[in-house]
Amino acid sequence: MALPIYAAIFLFSILYMFNRRRSCKNPILRDYPVVGMLPPVLLNLWRIHDYVTEVLKRNGGTGEFQGPWFSKMDYLVTCNSQNVQHMLLKNFDNYVKGPVFRQIFEPFGDGVVVADAEAWKYYRTHIQFFIKQRRHEAFIEQIVQNKVQACLFPMLDHVQEHGKVADLQDLFRRFSFDNICSIVAGRDPMCLSMDFPEVVIERALNECEEAVFCRHKVPMTVWKVKKWLQIGQEKTMTKACKTVDEFIYSCIASKREELRKCSKEETDKLPFDLISSLITSENCGTMADKGKGRVHNDKFLRDGAFNYLVAGRQGITSGLTWFFWLLSIHPLVEAKIVEEIKVNFPNDDRVLGMEEVKKLVYLHGALYETLRLFPPVPFERKQAIKADTLPSGHRVHPNTMIIFSLYAMGRSEEIWGKDCLEFKPERWISNKGEFVYVPSYKFIPFNAGPRTCLGKDSAMVQMKILASAILRNYRFQVMEGHVATPSHSIILLMKNGLKAKITKRESI
Ligand code: HEM
Repeated sequence: MALPIYAAIFLFSILYMFNRRRSCKNPILRDYPVVGMLPPVLLNLWRIHDYVTEVLKRNGGTGEFQGPWFSKMDYLVTCNSQNVQHMLLKNFDNYVKGPVFRQIFEPFGDGVVVADAEAWKYYRTHIQFFIKQRRHEAFIEQIVQNKVQACLFPMLDHVQEHGKVADLQDLFRRFSFDNICSIVAGRDPMCLSMDFPEVVIERALNECEEAVFCRHKVPMTVWKVKKWLQIGQEKTMTKACKTVDEFIYSCIASKREELRKCSKEETDKLPFDLISSLITSENCGTMADKGKGRVHNDKFLRDGAFNYLVAGRQGITSGLTWFFWLLSIHPLVEAKIVEEIKVNFPNDDRVLGMEEVKKLVYLHGALYETLRLFPPVPFERKQAIKADTLPSGHRVHPNTMIIFSLYAMGRSEEIWGKDCLEFKPERWISNKGEFVYVPSYKFIPFNAGPRTCLGKDSAMVQMKILASAILRNYRFQVMEGHVATPSHSIILLMKNGLKAKITKRESI
């Protein structure tokens, strides 16, 4: 009889001890024994980004989250722009992606998105070298204009002639994937074609991303056991990675073969893709000095290509989808963009080029406003190396995991003022009609500091070319009853796509 009572007392003492040991100074939520703060998060998982925004607002922008015991899911969560400036710029070296991040983002290998220190610098230098080539810019302009003219327009014409409904998100996804494959591997998989082919490699990349997102939701031991047993999402991830790897390795093999057969002069005339650039830059002058003798073997090229494929494909899809949805509920903004195109390019039906879209300041503001409210990368994580104190006064210990919410920062009253939830492209344009500068640690969708997105300019140009081409030629009407809900992924996509009816716009 006494045994259960002793057992209960023993259990309560343990619970009490642990709770005391775990008690945190700045909890953002109620901390339950054993399960920590996880229950309310799980209950709000379907609207996680809005929930985190509300919780952070109630807690002055920063606080501690404690996961279940022994789950290693304890985080410092913040949306304070000074904290973010401190981590991403002022004390950059102390805040790394870290080994836990690399384990979770396993399919990324040792590529630029997940690497730290020298390995990261090395990849970044090589990618910058690739991006800064003049023929790279020309190549992007050419593939985007061709894609719009040869694939997107015929498809939209077909949809409107047959009175069908188009899923705009699916079209943008196909558009971005074809482009990024051309940029990375010099191969266009023709995803954006009339028969809507299912492209195996594209699906495999989606599966990898979803599985990585799922790893964030459970303790590491849980996903590691699932991986070991090869069940659920972990099994899917293994299969998906194999598919992606087969594709990338076959591209590498054919690029090596192509380059082997070419003279230097012929190589310079080839379409300029990332894999070719990484192969040829191995022994190239200043780049080799920075490389400290690194060999660009197939694994190096695979990680470079995989990271670039993932980084470059979904951001544009996400940005454009939320942009067209926001326009559908803000017809006045749409009218102003159309007017801006009309004024700058009267009686001109061409798909605009890189230099021309620079004139579309209001469109630029509307896209920035979209990225502010719906940042394609909604949260990021960092790991501290040494103890530190954040500008908000919160202590950071070695190995503390920090999550900063880009989504909450875009909706922060401290940064954007009382009208922070309103979609107002005007906030980006000064009285003189010039673009308003906001430091990147406040306008955070492209990250800030030394790890700023490498595709920022290219992404803006691609989105502006595509958006101006669609808006000057077509009207679209989002299907009634459409609910815009974010999907569960590391990228902020729309859960059920964006279904719309398309009609031709009378010539402007
Ligand atoms: C609207 C579109 C895009 C957005 C909002 C965006 C946003 C971001 C963000 C937030 C990061 C930091 C991620 C992290 O450190 O965890 C990042 C990194 C990166 N992005 Fe983008 N991106 C976009 C498009 C692109 C495109 C089109 C490319 C390439 C063609 C690209 C290439 C990269 C690369 C290589 C990195 C890694 C930089 C580093 O860690 O040094 N991005 N991007």
